[in-house]
Amino acid sequence: MVHVMTPADISGVLEIEKQCFSDPWSYEMIENGLKSSLDTWLVLWEEGPAGYCVFRIVADECELLRIAVRPEYRGRGLSKKLMDQMVFYSRKNGVKSIFLEVRESNDRARNLYKSYGFTEEGVRKHYYLNPCENAVLMVCRDI
Ligand SMILES: CC(C)(COP(=O)(O)OP(=O)(O)OC[C@H]1O[C@@H](n2cnc3c(N)ncnc32)[C@H](O)[C@@H]1OP(=O)(O)O)[C@@H](O)C(=O)NCCC(=O)NCCS
Repeated sequence: MVHVMTPADISGVLEIEKQCFSDPWSYEMIENGLKSSLDTWLVLWEEGPAGYCVFRIVADECELLRIAVRPEYRGRGLSKKLMDQMVFYSRKNGVKSIFLEVRESNDRARNLYKSYGFTEEGVRKHYYLNPCENAVLMVCRDI
């Protein structure tokens, strides 16, 4: 099940951040981000918080800022429940293109995005820290 995140979910999302990213967001970053009216935060709930995503819709563009599924829940297609919701919200809000950046080494995520019609349109050199790595810019113009 996917639900819109509330302040009660912050601790669970913080745990997911720590498990899934080498550069996790802090409690304060999540708490402040949740207050932004431009951003939509969704939590994937299995027996507890199993994953989450956040995306930003401005005019006719959406940007996927984060998506993560806890390691023990991966490989079951659960990330698609979050991706499907992002596409649903985007269509509902008249979005024409969805953008995202992904670490060059992240084959799993890149494959997931390709399966949603994203194409790779550029590289941002040394974009990420911890560890330093290029970002691949991916775009879906046919949502
Ligand atoms: C990326 C991530 C969200 C995918 O979650 P998931 O629930 O395991 O993914 P799914 O089971 O839905 O698989 C999605 C697709 O990923 C790809 N995939 C799955 N396992 C893979 C693997 N071992 N190698 C390469 N691609 C793989 C496939 O394209 C798969 O689609 P398919 O089942 O139709 O073949 C998850 O791996 C994750 O949280 N990673 C850490 C955080 C992260 O990197 N987020 C993205 C950057 S913000």
